[in-house]
Amino acid sequence: MQSDDSPLRHAIELVVGFLHDEAKAPRVKAFFDEPTFTASYVVHDPVTRRAAIVDSVLDFDQPSGRTSFGSADAIIDYVRKADLTIDWLLETHAHADHLSAAPYLQEKLGGKIAIGQEIRTVQGVFGKIFNEGTKFARDGSQFDRLFVDGDSFAIGDIPAIALHVPGHTPADMAYILGDAAFVGDTMFMPDYGTARADFPGGNASQLYQSIRRLMKLPDETRVFLCHDYKAPSRENFAWETTMRAERSGNVHVREGVTEDAFVQMRTKRDATLDLPRLILPSIQVNMRGGRLPEPEDNGVSYLKLPLNQF
Ligand SMILES: [Fe+2]
Repeated sequence: MQSDDSPLRHAIELVVGFLHDEAKAPRVKAFFDEPTFTASYVVHDPVTRRAAIVDSVLDFDQPSGRTSFGSADAIIDYVRKADLTIDWLLETHAHADHLSAAPYLQEKLGGKIAIGQEIRTVQGVFGKIFNEGTKFARDGSQFDRLFVDGDSFAIGDIPAIALHVPGHTPADMAYILGDAAFVGDTMFMPDYGTARADFPGGNASQLYQSIRRLMKLPDETRVFLCHDYKAPSRENFAWETTMRAERSGNVHVREGVTEDAFVQMRTKRDATLDLPRLILPSIQVNMRGGRLPEPEDNGVSYLKLPLNQF
C-alpha cells in the first residue's frame, strides 16, 4: 500500500474492524434485473435498521418509451417489510445500461441521492454530445451529495468510505460499508473479468490502477458487483465474491497481470463490444440524477437520439 493513500488505509481499517463480527456486519440483499444484467442492493445496519440502496433500476421499454416501476417497487416492498429507514441512495456512476430509479425511491422512502463529484465531468461531456442548453446544470446539483475520494459517511452505526475508482467512466466510485465493498463497474465476477473502458472519458490504465487499489482491501472483504453477464462456463447469475477470489483468480486482472497486458487486452476486447442497448436513454436520464428531461410545453418529456455520433 502506498503510505500516502490515506483513504485506502482508512477503508482497510474499516473492513478489518468489521471482520469476524457477524452481529454488527451490514446485511446485504441483492435484486438482480435480468433485462439489464444489473445487481441493485439494499444494505442495512442490523442494529439501527438504517439502510442504503445501491444502484437501483428504473424499468424502461425502449420501443414504447415507457418507464415503469416493477424493479423499484420490489425494493420498496422489501424495505417496508424489513422495517428499514433509507439514509442513502448511492450511485456508483452514471450508468450507461439502465436508468436509475433513485428519484422515485427517494420520493417513496426518503434518503439522499449521492454520486462521485466527477459526475460534473460526465455532465460536461454528455451535455455537449446531447447539445443540452444552459438549463442543464453541469455542476452536479441534481444530486444531494457529491463524494470525493476518501469521504466518509455512515449507515446507522456502520461507517462507510467512498473511494474514487475511475476508468470505466471518470466518475466511478466504490463504496466501502463495513466489510462490504460495492465496487460498481470495475471488476466483475472473477470468471468474467472487468468492465469496459471505452465510453467517453473511460481509460483502461486508470481502470487497472483503480482495481489494483481496490485489491489492497483485505482478502475477506465481501465484494458486490454492479453487473453479471454469466461467464461461458457458468449456469447462474452471480454478483457477490471476495477480494481474495478477485485477486487470485480474476481472468482479466488477477495478481501478476501487468498494466500493459491489461490495457492491451481491454482495448482489443472493447473494440468488439456493441454499445449497451439503453445507452442513449440511460445517459440522458442518469446525468440528471435519474430524472427525465424537463417536459416540453405539451407536458411530455423527450429523449434525444443523436445520429452518427457513436
Ligand atoms: Fe456502467
